[in-house]
Amino acid sequence: MNALSQAGAAVDISRLSKTYKTREEDDVVALGNIDVRFEPGSFVAVVGPSGCGKSTLLSLLAGLTGATTGTIAIDGETISKPHPKIGVVFQSDLLLYWRTVIENILLPIEIKRLDVAKYRSRAEELLVQVGLEGFGNKYPSELSGGMRQRVAICRALIQEPGLMLMDEPFGALDALTREQMIMDLQAMWLRLGNTVLFITHGIDEAVFLADRVLVMSPRPGRVDLDLKIDIPRPRQWGRTHEDKAYQGYVRQIRDIFEAKGVLVAH
Ligand SMILES: Nc1ncnc2c1ncn2[C@@H]1O[C@H](COP(=O)(O)OP(=O)(O)OP(=O)(O)O)[C@@H](O)[C@H]1O
Ligand SMILES: [Mg+2]
Repeated sequence: MNALSQAGAAVDISRLSKTYKTREEDDVVALGNIDVRFEPGSFVAVVGPSGCGKSTLLSLLAGLTGATTGTIAIDGETISKPHPKIGVVFQSDLLLYWRTVIENILLPIEIKRLDVAKYRSRAEELLVQVGLEGFGNKYPSELSGGMRQRVAICRALIQEPGLMLMDEPFGALDALTREQMIMDLQAMWLRLGNTVLFITHGIDEAVFLADRVLVMSPRPGRVDLDLKIDIPRPRQWGRTHEDKAYQGYVRQIRDIFEAKGVLVAH
């Protein structure tokens, strides 16, 4: 087994909903009733229109906000606050500019008052895995956007989370860097074997990366379609796009968005 491989967590989401109370007293029902299980080691993508509750779902899983109804269990354990088995990557890298790359990756270890020296070699190994060998002593300002996002991924992986949550992690990248990051993420996940929840607006990256795509309805978000993606791995970005099965999955998702008025033809 690879030294860095990590067991994927099972996630059980049961009758989950979230309503935000607002000052104007018109409550916002962000998330409807969600019931779903993620198998250990699976790659699940969530696509849905802006405002349908994707980030809300991620915040609930990350334990950053409380549910209005329902429960979330990670490997059978109900969570209500940030859990060490969960790593999070956001759209912007949120690196601290005054800390070096290695110091940024080790931040969660410091916060939890764990032995930083023990985790240093793992941080170095993660940098190698994401193609940033030798960049440990650089500062975020010396890196490109794609490189910074790779560092953010290392920071999420430092505690060997069984579940990695990613909220539109490649949304701010240029097209070529995005394509490379998608390929690299697939390779990394195939090596690590953890469970990934990948939130995106991009139907193409969802179908390309995932074992399963959950298509959410406009607010309040519910799962409209739970689509199993049966394409062999490793998948090649260009070649997979020519695959008839891939094109069929993309069509199915687009059909739903068109039917719901999320995508309108002119
Ligand atoms: N803290 C909050 N207080 C009140 N309303 C909120 C809060 N956070 C989100 N909302 C509302 O909940 C709904 C869902 O928001 P959320 O950020 O989960 O959507 P999203 O699917 O991630 O959208 P996007 O694709 O644009 O990132 C939106 O209507 C939003 O205005
Ligand atoms: Mg969001």
